[in-house]
Amino acid sequence: MTLPLEQMKAFIVDKTRSNAVAIGDKLPASTVDGLFQFRENGGWVGSFWTGLNYLCYELSGDETFIEVARRSRHRFTKRLYQNPETLDHDIGFLYSLSSVADHKLTGDAEARQVAIDAAKALAGRYHEAGRFINAWPVWHPGEEFSEGNRGRIIVDCMYNLPLLFWAAETTGDARFRNIAEAHADTSAHTLVRPDYSCFHTYLFDPETGVRLRGTTFQGYADDSIWSRGQSWALGGFTYAYRYTGNKLFLDRAVGCAKLFIRELEADSVPMWDFRLPSKEGEPRDTSAGAIAAAGLLELAQLAEPDDAALFRAAAERIVGSLFAHYATVGAPEEQGLLREATGFRSRHVEVNVSLIYGDYYFAEAVARLLGRTKAYW
Ligand code: GLY
Repeated sequence: MTLPLEQMKAFIVDKTRSNAVAIGDKLPASTVDGLFQFRENGGWVGSFWTGLNYLCYELSGDETFIEVARRSRHRFTKRLYQNPETLDHDIGFLYSLSSVADHKLTGDAEARQVAIDAAKALAGRYHEAGRFINAWPVWHPGEEFSEGNRGRIIVDCMYNLPLLFWAAETTGDARFRNIAEAHADTSAHTLVRPDYSCFHTYLFDPETGVRLRGTTFQGYADDSIWSRGQSWALGGFTYAYRYTGNKLFLDRAVGCAKLFIRELEADSVPMWDFRLPSKEGEPRDTSAGAIAAAGLLELAQLAEPDDAALFRAAAERIVGSLFAHYATVGAPEEQGLLREATGFRSRHVEVNVSLIYGDYYFAEAVARLLGRTKAYW
């Protein structure tokens, strides 16, 4: 498949460059009427803007993007050292695409130290008996789930593990890797169902760590398949395999990937959940497509040749469709790169908008197709 990769690159780089003026040192999350809204401390998404700028540096060679990414550095250090109570398991997302990315690209020593301290905070959430990293504190939005949060994992956490794997490599401290591998193993046996579809979350007895049951938070139903969760699993198990060589994780990555590909709509972009009783009036989630495309391209480098060809072809179809049908090309009044992303459909929050993480993963997939990223995970 021939994709207009240079056009895609120019679109990503130009729009990110022009957004930088309005965004300054703030951390964009999602759009309202085409304009990014900000979260005070970045929520769980704060690093996707910084990550996007580091990618644009790799795509363009323009060092201004490094300077833009670093404008919000003070927010990440303040949050980690002064307001750690605002952090949960998404520390991995937050510090992989800010501090780790900076260190990988520039060798900056302070960025490395911040990332190591972030990894320590993530490791501190580990539940020894249950062999998992607890996801959320009891104060997480969603009151009815608060008590359950004392013993909960969510599939998204698979993408938080690379921070620990990276920390093990850079410090030589195997504990980081052991925790990440144990969490991935527990996830492989709880979150992934026999047909390789995934629960969004899984509950454990908070005292004993005994496994209880799979549930959802953002999906349509406990037994449905939230498409973004499936894309987190696909990529997350891929990285767990890349760092450990543990074939269990390759099995889960390949199975989750094949299911994701089978469930795509005719235009190769997913609905927000793959088990809706009716698709009538229901939105797509382009962010799930973008996350999956980036993960499939990594997985294609690790899988057996036949699978690798399938995954690369699927990633190209997704990226091609996202650009042809969902990108804000020719719409300078819209700050996001991709339309029709859906954050939390069940609560009517962030439906059919641009999401900064959808934009980041679209850019990551394009950078991978161009062979132009060191990859920060
Ligand atoms: N990690 C939260 C989400 O995907 O919405």
